[in-house]
Amino acid sequence: MTPEKLCALAKDAMHHAYVPYSGYKVGAALLCADGSVYQGCNIENAAYSPTNCAERTAFFKAVYDGHRSFQAIAVCGGKDGIITGAFPPCGVCRQVMREFCEDDFTIYLAGPDGTWEALTLAQLLPHSFSAKKHMNGDAKL
Ligand code: THU
Repeated sequence: MTPEKLCALAKDAMHHAYVPYSGYKVGAALLCADGSVYQGCNIENAAYSPTNCAERTAFFKAVYDGHRSFQAIAVCGGKDGIITGAFPPCGVCRQVMREFCEDDFTIYLAGPDGTWEALTLAQLLPHSFSAKKHMNGDAKL
């Protein structure tokens, strides 16, 4: 799976976004360790805080299906589905990534015209809290 292909799948996922409040469509494509890909979109809510981001939709779909090991995720978004620049994952999504992914998990931020940049989870969430690092013995992973 190339970064270009994963970014293209994230872009496709934007079409599924349910965004009557913000109008910002976000798409994600999550690459599992076995090579399978799960797409996600953001799903908004009238009460605002129940809104689920595209990245978490992808993760939750994959985890439901039994996946626990992941290689990379591509993310893109923009007002009315128009990508004008990188749309980086929010802090909550970064923490969900932390739950299942290692420091070298790659986040591709897809930009306009097929451009992308790659960052690691360690770069996006330094000095993070994780069960593996801080709950040894207590977390039933
Ligand atoms: N959003 C995502 O889907 N992923 C992120 O990581 C950042 C924000 C969504 C939530 C909301 O529907 C819209 O973008 C505007 O905040």
